[in-house]
Amino acid sequence: ARGGADRSRHSPTMEQGLSLKREVGIIGAVSFIAGTMIGSGIFISPQYVLLAIGSPGASFVIWACCGLIAMLGGLCYAELGTIIPESGGEYIYMLRTAGKVTAFVFVFSFISVMRPASATGIALSCAEYVVAPFYSGCAPPQLVLKCVAAVVILALALVNCLSVRLATGIQVVTMAIKALTLAVIILGGAVMLFQGNTANFEDSFDGTNVGVKAIGIAFYQGLWSYDGWNTLNYLTEELKRPEVRLITISLVTGLYLLVNVSYLTVMTPKELMSSTAVAITWGNKVLGSWGWIMSLAAALSAFGSLNGTFFSGGRVCFVAAREGHMPDILSMAHVHRLTPSPALIFTTVISLVVLIPGDFQSIVNYFSFTAWFFYAVTLSGLIYLKIKKPELPRPYSVPIVLPILILLVAIFLVLAPIIDQPQIEYLYVALFILSGAIVYVPFIHFKLCPGMFDKVTTFLQLFLEVAPAEKNL
Ligand code: ARG
Repeated sequence: ARGGADRSRHSPTMEQGLSLKREVGIIGAVSFIAGTMIGSGIFISPQYVLLAIGSPGASFVIWACCGLIAMLGGLCYAELGTIIPESGGEYIYMLRTAGKVTAFVFVFSFISVMRPASATGIALSCAEYVVAPFYSGCAPPQLVLKCVAAVVILALALVNCLSVRLATGIQVVTMAIKALTLAVIILGGAVMLFQGNTANFEDSFDGTNVGVKAIGIAFYQGLWSYDGWNTLNYLTEELKRPEVRLITISLVTGLYLLVNVSYLTVMTPKELMSSTAVAITWGNKVLGSWGWIMSLAAALSAFGSLNGTFFSGGRVCFVAAREGHMPDILSMAHVHRLTPSPALIFTTVISLVVLIPGDFQSIVNYFSFTAWFFYAVTLSGLIYLKIKKPELPRPYSVPIVLPILILLVAIFLVLAPIIDQPQIEYLYVALFILSGAIVYVPFIHFKLCPGMFDKVTTFLQLFLEVAPAEKNL
């Protein structure tokens, strides 16, 4: 099963091939997961979680459960990472457990829906915070929001195409800003709390919506803020320290809960629900005339997250192209700059297309729907390996109830919004995911029109100055 990895490990062309730079130590790994997880969500979803679930108490419970789910999911992924020690995240796990077609369907949706949708969602929330100070008291026009989001996407795509160092630099700086911002929010909230602002925590479960759909949507919005808990599996082949992941996810969970307490200390649930950008409303109430600082900080936080999304985007493409599941061009890197520009350009174009009809809330809902569908498939793979291949070496192993539990959660998450109030859009998304299987038959299985692809590839290679890159091991 490890053929792919071994082949390239011993490949004689390894030294001559291009390879993307990668140096990830423990601190690197922590900031990598935290940097992907903390981004737009915590500055925007608390409002939508509360809107869906109806009461501050219940929304707090949802945030805690989301953290727990991310943590347990992370544990299961840690085991997967040790059984199948190859990069490529869900893609490689599905390839090794559920087979080629499923893996292809995944990579097809990942590249055409999930990654662009997450980029667009983050860009929209960045735009929200960039324009908010100019429209205080009213909602900014959609057109302005979308134009700003488009500029943000294009700017970061350009940065990531031009220089790995600049992209890394942005990542480090925005990470510091995020940490500082969350600390300010938590401290500000603590001060207000000790001054006796506890009114919003009385009768905190009044008005809770207990509908299946309400709970499902609240989870979608909350889990969006935690999404990225699986990031390490996209690039790390050595998982000797699964605890890094666990520590980071618990840390993020703790921060998120405290931030939520702070929001609710400062704002009434009504204010929180009707605010256009929660961090700004918070800022105006606590920092007074310095409130605008929060909008800058939240915008930069989303900016950094989007940068991270672009930065780590190429890995799955490399692995999939090696299996012949992706056009080769998408796994190539620029000959001098060593940046995966074709994959970046591709993601950028689709992100801009998704941006045209999309708004933050629905993009996040469709993203979560698709993502949890595939997390479910991946977790079934782990359960399968645990039952059928107990002899595989596992330096790290979780009790089988964990993946089963998270699998049940995932199934609930995928089905909840459909069963309660079926919305035709989810059907479209599901059909699109499955259409990957239809693309598979002619293009991958029967390798139709390889000649045409070769010509296009050669043309694009010359045009973009890119060459095949070896995966780092
Ligand atoms: N958790 C991030 C945020 O709150 C979004 C992560 C999107 N997913 C991803 N794989 N980049 O902004």
